[in-house]
Amino acid sequence: MSTKHDKIIIAIDGFSSCGKSTFAKAIAARLGYIFIDTGAMYRAVTLYALEHGAIHSGIVDEDAVVRLLKEIQITFRFNPERGASDIYVNGDRVEGKIRTIEVSNCVSAVSAIGEVREMLVRMQQEMGRRKGVVMDGRDIGTVVFPDAELKIFMTADPKVRAQRRYDELTAKGDNVSLEEIEQNVRDRDYQDMHRAISPLRQAEDAIVLDNSHMTVEEQMTWVMERIEALQQA
Ligand code: DC
Repeated sequence: MSTKHDKIIIAIDGFSSCGKSTFAKAIAARLGYIFIDTGAMYRAVTLYALEHGAIHSGIVDEDAVVRLLKEIQITFRFNPERGASDIYVNGDRVEGKIRTIEVSNCVSAVSAIGEVREMLVRMQQEMGRRKGVVMDGRDIGTVVFPDAELKIFMTADPKVRAQRRYDELTAKGDNVSLEEIEQNVRDRDYQDMHRAISPLRQAEDAIVLDNSHMTVEEQMTWVMERIEALQQA
């Protein structure tokens, strides 16, 4: 049983471009919790691998990625302007560089490497040790925090998700096509669900949130009702 004053762990898993991070960030702000975007950690390792010769023409050299791991230091620092933490690799802020289509196309392959997952899962568990965190990813409720007090599995129509990511990237000035984005969304869904280690799946005790036709406000109402119910149980 938890009371209003007990901090909990909120695990949010689901498909790519479902708005997990936006949602997780809003919940964390409402509760005064720490928000951790674990996808950013897999993206940061992928960016480093791209910049250090471990990925050629989209082909990931797994051994080379594993060799690089010992020189990668990932840290987060709160950025008040974004209301969330920025991710740093070896002291360099990479927040703006990890969401390109190039990184998106390689990140599923990098995140399928066992040693990469071991390193990042260990870091994530350490970050959640004191609770009071909202963590989003693919394996948070199943592997990272199987005992999380609240587990949410997010999903939305792939076409809606592709449109959202397209709007996000074109607003930043990226020159991408909607077809290319939709293909990437579908490919990543497949790869994330079918990898050998920690595939994306719904934890048995997770509650499903399909936000294809929901605003962020509606999602907040939905989740706050569940958090309150949990605290009164
Ligand atoms: O949430 P995102 O799209 O930024 O995540 C990028 C990739 O990282 C995604 O394709 C799968 C991988 N990932 C993972 O394997 N496990 C996590 N906990 C988070 C992300």
